[in-house]
Amino acid sequence: MTRGAKVRIAISFSLALVALVIGYLIMPSPDRGRSGVETAGSLGGPFSLTDHTGKTVTDQDFRGKFLLIYFGYTSCPDVCPLDLRFMTDALLELGADADQIQPILITVDPLRDTPEVLAGYVAAYHPRLIGLTGTPEKIAAVAKSYAIFHQKEAGVADLATAYLVGHTTATILMGPDGTFLRVFSHGTGPAEYVAGLREHL
Ligand code: NI
Repeated sequence: MTRGAKVRIAISFSLALVALVIGYLIMPSPDRGRSGVETAGSLGGPFSLTDHTGKTVTDQDFRGKFLLIYFGYTSCPDVCPLDLRFMTDALLELGADADQIQPILITVDPLRDTPEVLAGYVAAYHPRLIGLTGTPEKIAAVAKSYAIFHQKEAGVADLATAYLVGHTTATILMGPDGTFLRVFSHGTGPAEYVAGLREHL
């Protein structure tokens, strides 16, 4: 092998290595959907959904208020109840300051979570918690705009009626102008929650 050929091989090898490293860096992480939402400034977007009283509401109806948005579902056995409990406790702790914040639960299980089902559920948490549902297409679109992963879990007995829904467990704070502010991760306790909210109020 000539010296020239050796140099060419060395160069091709280096280029291949660089390509490999770049490929690794930009490769999407497979568990990103579960661990949390991307904290990009472009999070959120327009939506038109049905609230737990049967009324149509859009994102525009909430301009001027901070939005605390949680994606979950009423049949969730443990995760949603804990996060909604902590959210509620934090808002109650904030007292009158919480009036600037509209808490919202957007269901990731629209087939079972009708407005009637949501009405019974939100009543157990904050008195101003709004439950939103819609067609599966609308829910998929709004979840996507907030980078929320959600999927019916396989491996349960009756996929038609008794399923679980895997979903991102992050609570998203949006500003009064509709811009993304921050995320509260699953299990954030009321005290930490209050401190985090106060930073933005
Ligand atoms: Ni849940």
